[in-house]
Amino acid sequence: MLSQKKDFWRICVERWPLSGRSAFVLARYGFIASILVLVGTSLSLLFFRYPAAVPDPRTIFRPSPPAQDSREDYDYFNLANTTASNVHPIDTLINAAREFHDARLLKRSEDLTSAAQRYRERRGRHPPPGFDRWVAYALKNDAIIVEDYFDRIYKDIAPFWGLDPKKIALQAAKWPHIVRVRGGKTEQVGDTQGRVPWLELWAKLVSDVGKHLPDVDMPINYMDESRLLVPFEDITRYVAKEQATRTMPPASQVVSDYTGLAEIDKMDKPEDPKFTHAPKLYWDFLRATCPPGSPSRDVPAMDEPALIPQYPHGLSEAYAYRGFIQNFTAASDACLQPHLRSYHASFIEPVSMSTSTDLFPLFGGSKLPQNNELLIPGAMYITDHEFYSGGNSHGPPWAEKIDKIIWRGVASGGRNYGENFHHFQRHRLVEMLNGTTVSRLERNGARALTFEMPLDSEYDFSRLHERKIGEWLKEFADAGFVGRNCRDNKCDYVDPYFSELESIKMKEQYKMKFLPDADGNSFSARFRGFMLSTSLPLKATVYAEWHDDRLVPWLHFAPLDNTFADMYAVLDYFTRDRQGDSAAQMIAEAGKLWGEKVLRREDMALYVFRLLLEFARVCDEARDKLGFVEDLQTK
Ligand SMILES: *[C@@H]1O[C@H](CO)[C@@H](O)[C@H](O)[C@H]1NC(C)=O
Ligand SMILES: *[C@@H]1O[C@H](CO)[C@@H](O)[C@H](O)[C@H]1NC(C)=O
Ligand SMILES: *[C@@H]1O[C@H](CO)[C@@H](O)[C@H](O)[C@H]1NC(C)=O
Repeated sequence: MLSQKKDFWRICVERWPLSGRSAFVLARYGFIASILVLVGTSLSLLFFRYPAAVPDPRTIFRPSPPAQDSREDYDYFNLANTTASNVHPIDTLINAAREFHDARLLKRSEDLTSAAQRYRERRGRHPPPGFDRWVAYALKNDAIIVEDYFDRIYKDIAPFWGLDPKKIALQAAKWPHIVRVRGGKTEQVGDTQGRVPWLELWAKLVSDVGKHLPDVDMPINYMDESRLLVPFEDITRYVAKEQATRTMPPASQVVSDYTGLAEIDKMDKPEDPKFTHAPKLYWDFLRATCPPGSPSRDVPAMDEPALIPQYPHGLSEAYAYRGFIQNFTAASDACLQPHLRSYHASFIEPVSMSTSTDLFPLFGGSKLPQNNELLIPGAMYITDHEFYSGGNSHGPPWAEKIDKIIWRGVASGGRNYGENFHHFQRHRLVEMLNGTTVSRLERNGARALTFEMPLDSEYDFSRLHERKIGEWLKEFADAGFVGRNCRDNKCDYVDPYFSELESIKMKEQYKMKFLPDADGNSFSARFRGFMLSTSLPLKATVYAEWHDDRLVPWLHFAPLDNTFADMYAVLDYFTRDRQGDSAAQMIAEAGKLWGEKVLRREDMALYVFRLLLEFARVCDEARDKLGFVEDLQTK
């Protein structure tokens, strides 16, 4: 096992032979590297049985035994009394989250007829052919079918209805890295020698359901970074076409057999799409995807990274409720927050950029909501390697956990150097959790390079008003880099602010109550492991993931703003009294139970299964007539 892991490292490092083993290669693999380091050298598994929650009558969220029905997984906690005058905004948000989740679960489909009906209601089309096999696979695997959980697929697919089906089928079939299905058999196409094993992992996932799939090609983005940024005006045109062609023809006119790709397979490779490489201008490409009139559209990329980030005091009411994230989708949307151009390494200087403004089909495990890739579950979520998942050890029960927040990782996100590191999200997270730094700021009222302290007027808690956050963090927080990824390995520019700490295995981290999660070069691949742990994940991100529509912030994890401006107040709420602690326990446990139901490999396979049915249809010349209508005919 050990040598296998070393090989894995080597493969990671050698993926980019041009730049050799430079620090930036390591930076690019920040999220892989950090997890490798975190899990350390021991692969011993701790087979831990997760005990039932222990009831505590004094808590507001009173745990009682979980019910069998998934709807009630989190129902064993009583609601906080939100009519009480001293109610904390987070109590209100937790209650709203529960109500939202409950209401949505009422739309669960239990059979083919209801699933097909809900599909038609929500999508305005007949389901794609093969939908019966999709539902059968879901039912066989006890998957929770709520049509809304697949919304992302339809956002991603919609613009492709605006393109010529043959053209996209051909582009998909001739891309260098493909998961290919022909005659029910799945194969991987493309040279992955010396590269991360993503193609293999995704091909295996597709092969779980391959025999149910029509002939289809899944062209894969082999970079960490997402790549398609089609300007708003173009996408709007494509999506308008989708809307104009959206119909439900009578069952008698519906065709249920895909045309297949035999003709496409005989054709020559089309022209390569054009890519732009200008990492420092990524933001400018991004904002072109924002609607005209949206806050970021006319705000250019930051051209003076040496300036420290301007802290936008007070979270916008567009997505926050009394200073806490209310709409996580909006909070992750860079189009709504021009200041994010100087708050995230992806918008400062990603390690690499190879971006196209033309729409063509490309599947990837991570993207910004503004990117036009077809999103699939991150490869790191489907590997058997424990480096990514934390293995089978999910941590002790809440009552046995240490009251601490812990973070270890690499200073990834982009190319950091003296003039720009203070804009990087991971640097900000680590510095904000550094008790020494915070105490100094509290003493002299200054600001740090990466952040400013919240104002007294922004949040109401005594640790803030009494300048005791630093003292508290000295005990409560344990956060630091295990690799600083400095330019040319010379770290003098970060030496005064950041030191390197020993790595801590994931299963050791799960002994702590709080696990913050920040983006690396793209999404943070550890989030699924965090969700399935018994600890509470706290997450800020500008990235979208396949699971977003099935996880509910404040019920399954605690959302944070990308500035982390709300972090102290959130942590204060969870640690200030028994009620907060119960709330943290409730979210940690509800998230884990829910994750065990909707984040399984089977769920990821189902997501990709559905996406590939849709993609096969949109690539088919007969797409306007293709559909599944058997449920209508047998009636
Ligand atoms: C909730 O709080 C209000 C005001 O403090 C109180 O009047 C009411 O009885 C409480 N309701 C419950 C169910 O505890
Ligand atoms: C959350 O924000 C998104 C993006 O701005 C918006 O489309 C959505 O309607 C909002 N959701 C709610 C519940 O307000
Ligand atoms: C915390 O901040 C101090 C300076 O205030 C710095 O010397 C130290 O290295 C930092 N600790 C970590 C773990 O980065």
